[in-house]
Amino acid sequence: MRLDKFISKATELSRKEAKRALHALEITVNDEVIRDGSVHVDELNDEVMWAGEPLSVATGNRYILLYKPEGFECTLKPKEYPIVTELIAVPELTSLRIAGRLDVDTTGALLLSDDGSWLHRVTSPKHQHAKVYKLTLAEAMDEAAQANAVAKIAQGILLDGDYEPTKPATLEFIDETHARLTLTEGKYHQVKRMMGYFGNKVTELHRATVGEITLAGLEKGDSRFLTEAEVASF
Ligand code: URA
Repeated sequence: MRLDKFISKATELSRKEAKRALHALEITVNDEVIRDGSVHVDELNDEVMWAGEPLSVATGNRYILLYKPEGFECTLKPKEYPIVTELIAVPELTSLRIAGRLDVDTTGALLLSDDGSWLHRVTSPKHQHAKVYKLTLAEAMDEAAQANAVAKIAQGILLDGDYEPTKPATLEFIDETHARLTLTEGKYHQVKRMMGYFGNKVTELHRATVGEITLAGLEKGDSRFLTEAEVASF
């Protein structure tokens, strides 16, 4: 959003008065004095101040990326383990919902929001947003076993208890016990069940990306708001 629009939305000032505040060097964005009202600000992540007072516009919805550590449950009420929202410091945590849960022992990118239709767009296979998982296997797979798994997963496999095969997906082996799996859907325990189909077991699982969202710059347990562009990418 343009800075002058942001100021008048966040205050009682008209666009003309906002311009005056800008020319009077009263407005800072991320600690830098800005005079130009046409400058673009990210309403969630940029810190805009008027005469030293922070300004914010109510956006209505929150969009959060959490680097989930192991040992946390993706539920709203804790059962055996602490829950992921305990790691996030924003008000009204109970209104947040998770887009694509991760198991307690899985680490990686977890998206949360209070915008129901956005959550649906993130997870619905219709929208084909890729999720990249890195996995470690209990049993080494030789070249022939790898080639078989790659080909079957590219076509889709019918998992125990399912009526429909998995959507075509991409499995890439890094070595005999490490692989990268790219999925565009999220069935229950999908990665573990897919490797179970080949008689193997996943011992470590990490979700590296969801769509364009990566964990760059975050440590385990950290979270941040998505940028406007990231929100709009779903
Ligand atoms: N697939 C799984 O098996 N577990 C996860 O946590 C995510 C995908």
